[in-house]
Amino acid sequence: MINQLTLIIGANSDIGKAIASQVASLADTGLILISRQAIDEKDTVEEQNSLKVKKITVKDYQPQSIDNAIADLVAHSELPISQVFVCNGILHSETFQPEKRLEDFDAQAFQQVISANTLTPMLWVQKLTPILTRKSPCKFIVFSARVGSINDNKLGGWYSYRASKAALNMMLKTASIELARRAKNIKLISFHPGTTDTPLSKPFQKNVPADKLFTSEFVAKQLLTIVADTPIDHTLSYLDWQGKSINW
Ligand SMILES: NC(=O)c1ccc[n+]([C@@H]2O[C@H](COP(=O)([O-])OP(=O)(O)OC[C@H]3O[C@@H](n4cnc5c(N)ncnc54)[C@H](OP(=O)(O)O)[C@@H]3O)[C@@H](O)[C@H]2O)c1
Repeated sequence: MINQLTLIIGANSDIGKAIASQVASLADTGLILISRQAIDEKDTVEEQNSLKVKKITVKDYQPQSIDNAIADLVAHSELPISQVFVCNGILHSETFQPEKRLEDFDAQAFQQVISANTLTPMLWVQKLTPILTRKSPCKFIVFSARVGSINDNKLGGWYSYRASKAALNMMLKTASIELARRAKNIKLISFHPGTTDTPLSKPFQKNVPADKLFTSEFVAKQLLTIVADTPIDHTLSYLDWQGKSINW
């Protein structure tokens, strides 16, 4: 019997789809998938009914669209949300690539990256918190990246992506301090999946050794184990795909 919900935001993400298909096999967990456009059912969960899987389509990730999605979610079910995964993130688009040097830095591209990678997850943290503050525990996972670590930055480049993930980590750290007072049932995790074979990393895979390029299915399995093993301790954890802490 379904007694809890897992919420996946940015559910068209390849890693998000892999999480969805693994969570879908749990008999006690309903799935809510939120994405900008219809999610390919074959890619996610093959069998579904309205209780087990609900898809919510958002026009964009502006505050009003997020409010509408949350209203839809609340109307759908009163079951507690035990896990949230925010998968949103961009590195490149049709109009920009990550910077190799200062001359490549572009203000408009930076705004798009910071909007998708920092602002979008932050709005979800802000707007979901009121419906997560119950007694039941909730693990709230946001996809960050190791390149958001200032300490780890030995190679340079990728100004916008690095800065957006570093800013995301600071937002989450600040939120964790507030949630430790206001919502002791919520555990925030900033997660680095490792280089994973998805559209985001596709153009940058050629120098990645085969054993360091992960499948989405592998990363999802790792992450679900890490989430289950991580206690609610009122701090932000910055963890990689092995469950190891990353230095800020
Ligand atoms: N793949 C890697 O090697 C790697 C490494 C380190 C960190 N990460 C992080 O892991 C997360 C998942 O990435 P992925 O590899 O699964 O990527 P992906 O398959 O390319 O998925 C892209 C994600 O970004 C969202 N998105 C795209 N454009 C957006 C916009 N303009 N505003 C807000 N959201 C937007 C999509 O949401 P919709 O569902 O609405 O389309 C989707 O959730 C990202 O945060 C990424 O930075 C990935």
